[in-house]
Amino acid sequence: MKKTNILLTGITGILGRHIFYELLHEYANNKKKGTLIVVIRPKAGQTAYERLRSIVRHRFRPAYLNNYTENELLQYVISIESDIEALDNTHFTTLESYDNLYVIHAAAETDLSNTSTAHEKIFVNNYLASKHLLEWCSPNLYKFIFISTTFSIGHYDPVVYDQYISFDANNHPVLKPILSHRIPYEEFKIKMEQELIQYCQQQEKKWQIIRPSTICGRMLDEPLYYTPEFNVFYLLGKFLLACSSTDIIHRGETFRIESNPTGTMNIVPVDYVAKTIIRAFENDAIDQLNAVSQRQVSVAYLLQSICSYTGVKCELTEHPPLWETMTEAEKQYYEVMAPILSYYLTLPVHQFDTSTLKEIMTDIPDIDVEKGLKDLYAFAYENEFRSL
Ligand SMILES: NC(=O)c1ccc[n+]([C@@H]2O[C@H](COP(=O)([O-])OP(=O)(O)OC[C@H]3O[C@@H](n4cnc5c(N)ncnc54)[C@H](OP(=O)(O)O)[C@@H]3O)[C@@H](O)[C@H]2O)c1
Repeated sequence: MKKTNILLTGITGILGRHIFYELLHEYANNKKKGTLIVVIRPKAGQTAYERLRSIVRHRFRPAYLNNYTENELLQYVISIESDIEALDNTHFTTLESYDNLYVIHAAAETDLSNTSTAHEKIFVNNYLASKHLLEWCSPNLYKFIFISTTFSIGHYDPVVYDQYISFDANNHPVLKPILSHRIPYEEFKIKMEQELIQYCQQQEKKWQIIRPSTICGRMLDEPLYYTPEFNVFYLLGKFLLACSSTDIIHRGETFRIESNPTGTMNIVPVDYVAKTIIRAFENDAIDQLNAVSQRQVSVAYLLQSICSYTGVKCELTEHPPLWETMTEAEKQYYEVMAPILSYYLTLPVHQFDTSTLKEIMTDIPDIDVEKGLKDLYAFAYENEFRSL
């Protein structure tokens, strides 16, 4: 069996951790041979290696790893302790014995706000750091897999295809013309997608772009519903719980949310995305792939379910209510949350073309996220949206 050596970033995060678990399983059950190199920064008094060990022995690690001891799993892993932007020649010595590396870059700041601080943070931590990682690993790189977002396109057509980037007669990457970026996070994702392709073309390296939609907790592997952070998909629930525990919102109260009452959202379980990446990354026929759920979730059902946990009556409105008619909780929502969430909740009706995805996911059941929403949210409430 040929060796598949992989460098993976972001393993302390929501998605990277699940890619890590899937890869560990592949090595441990001899589906793959090789080494997994992870880049981790020290944080909160823990070294990179301590953080790595705590992920491997985590109480919520998938049950499919329970047949292996911590040391059996760790034998496949080498950690590099560093921020991505600080990777240098000394760190590169770790890569020297691993040529033809696959690099799966899942680390990023997922800050969806539209402020100058967010712009600067995303520019440095996502855009510059990704470029630096690409250049740093380039001498031993075989293929660079960049984890982007389905929102990198800036708008959705009624049918969303995988090929956000096409190629002109000279094989130069060309973006669809109408882009309406609202936030730095998406703007720098698409910029990086384009520059990755240009760089890899110049250096004669392979590349792949995988774009998850909105990620929720696990829905395939036990223990179900786990996610290390309740981010993005959980933001509204987190906000309502905070309002309810500070008495800003009360049971039975009406809460008006700007949204498209007939709209849908794509929400995808984190383990489904990780399994997509595992099935796609060595497949050279796939250059761009949206890692999404086959079925959309109705926005009306989503909002009503989330509000029901705090006993609030949710009303979907096409426009924000007048300021003078707003309750205290609505005022806080329109000040803090709506600038982030309204765009996603007012999206026009759309559907993803999942034909390529279906081809590679034949062994994985199609998940009905709408049906599992209540359980996903029950898990989040049980854990009070705390980091796990
Ligand atoms: N969450 C979603 O709904 C969603 C949807 C679509 C796409 N995505 C994409 O999926 C990928 C993973 O997202 P996520 O939600 O898993 O993110 P996350 O939970 O916020 O985790 C981010 C990870 O990146 C690491 N990281 C960030 N900056 C770093 C740096 N400068 N150096 C070293 N490590 C760094 C973090 O390490 P520390 O623990 O040390 O901070 C953490 O491991 C990202 O590319 C994101 O854009 C996410």
